[in-house]
Amino acid sequence: MSVIIDPGAVAAAVIGDAEYGLLIGGEWLPAAGGVRFAVENPATGETLTEVPDGGAAETRAAVAAAAAALPGWAATPAPARAALLRRAAALMLERQERLATIMTLEQGKPLAEARGEIAYAASFLTWFASEAERIYGSTIPASVANKRLMVLRQPVGVAALITPWNFPAAMITRKLGPALAAGCTAIIKPAEQTPLSALELGRIFGEAGLPAGALNIITCRDPRPFSEAIFADERVRKVSFTGSTEVGKLLIRQSAETVKRISLELGGNAPFIVFDDADLDAAVQGAIASKFRNAGQTCVCANRIFVQRGVYEQFATAFAARVGAMRVGNGLNPEVTIGPLIDEAARVKVERHVSDALASGASLLVGGRPFEGAGDGAFWTPTVLANASSEMLVAREETFGPVAPLIPFDTEEEVLHHANATPFGLAAYVFTREVGRVWRVAEGLEYGIVGVNDPLPSVAQAPFGGYKQSGLGREGGASGINEYLEEKFVSLAL
Ligand code: SIN
Repeated sequence: MSVIIDPGAVAAAVIGDAEYGLLIGGEWLPAAGGVRFAVENPATGETLTEVPDGGAAETRAAVAAAAAALPGWAATPAPARAALLRRAAALMLERQERLATIMTLEQGKPLAEARGEIAYAASFLTWFASEAERIYGSTIPASVANKRLMVLRQPVGVAALITPWNFPAAMITRKLGPALAAGCTAIIKPAEQTPLSALELGRIFGEAGLPAGALNIITCRDPRPFSEAIFADERVRKVSFTGSTEVGKLLIRQSAETVKRISLELGGNAPFIVFDDADLDAAVQGAIASKFRNAGQTCVCANRIFVQRGVYEQFATAFAARVGAMRVGNGLNPEVTIGPLIDEAARVKVERHVSDALASGASLLVGGRPFEGAGDGAFWTPTVLANASSEMLVAREETFGPVAPLIPFDTEEEVLHHANATPFGLAAYVFTREVGRVWRVAEGLEYGIVGVNDPLPSVAQAPFGGYKQSGLGREGGASGINEYLEEKFVSLAL
């Protein structure tokens, strides 16, 4: 039975005529001249609402507000900062359904995934609430009797957090949680496609009792005036960005001018390796979970699926059958497992990768074409390509779409070589039951995250980040808060 949904009615019910503003110094403000831009539903192309189009002047005002709030927030005792983060997490979970619906409307992912993302996002706040209470300094044994050596850990200062559209809530809390826990104040610039989730979180932090100015949000259609204002301003001491490697490189160059601390979570090209001895059902299920989460629009999703020749045919048949049964459509429909791509440019890239693979000798097991009939959005039929190779575009570039190229291999040495032959190094996956191989391959993969028989390893309590051109620094885990702390060495002569 097919569920009929009316996205317009859902949008009217959850968004209604809410007036979204820029959050600056605790006030919700319009952009200069009242300029706004439309937020569209990627499944239908319909306008959901409009938000202010902030520019350089609004960004400078947000920096001033964050700088003014910094001494007070940095001096707030850690247990009080922790309590606030816990209150915000509780409010997020209380409003999970509303926040998830808004996320599906503006981003397109299936509602079940959006609900999961809200819980995932809240988990960063509770994790970093506890970390706030463990910002320990240290003492160092001195080499002379009359000295005492100590290390203090203090907030870096004002932090600018630039977040992507693929996880509109979790990528905010993974940055904002440690920033506020450390005692930093923040300015968020959400992706232009998904500002509503950010603005809803801004309301929640206000209700949780965050002092005015400790969190500011600038929505804008063009990110350039924002980043120019941020990078030119000495008061901003930290920038954290999640997005493409291309933009990440630009930000590294821009950060040189005022020597800012910078954290980058950039692109990936994840290998997913299935050995002959793997639990094949688990590997098929894992490949589906890793590849097709968020319609393949995650930096950690399997981009190249390497399957050892002994199980290649069996894996390909079972995998293609499962992919062929996936349901494409509007993410509000509970039966849907694959929503739209974020925009037409994303669909064009997917099409280019599939055409190149087919022209270069791969064959189509399922999909391979746009999906018609689900709405005006950029839908793509989940696709499996057999006999792909490492030379194809689909294996060299991050596809960021629901396309799974299967690449046969013979030996462990060969697959490790191919898996590492990329400038990227974010996440990798290996399915095997041989314990020696688990260690050899996990240690040999040049990646920041390795899922062994685990397609979804991301959790708040573990470090998330990449080797090589996949980024700088780590988010989450015990080390995530270090990105927002300075170490100060104090030497005391008695
Ligand atoms: C991402 O792909 O950008 C984040 C995914 C995750 O946190 O698992």
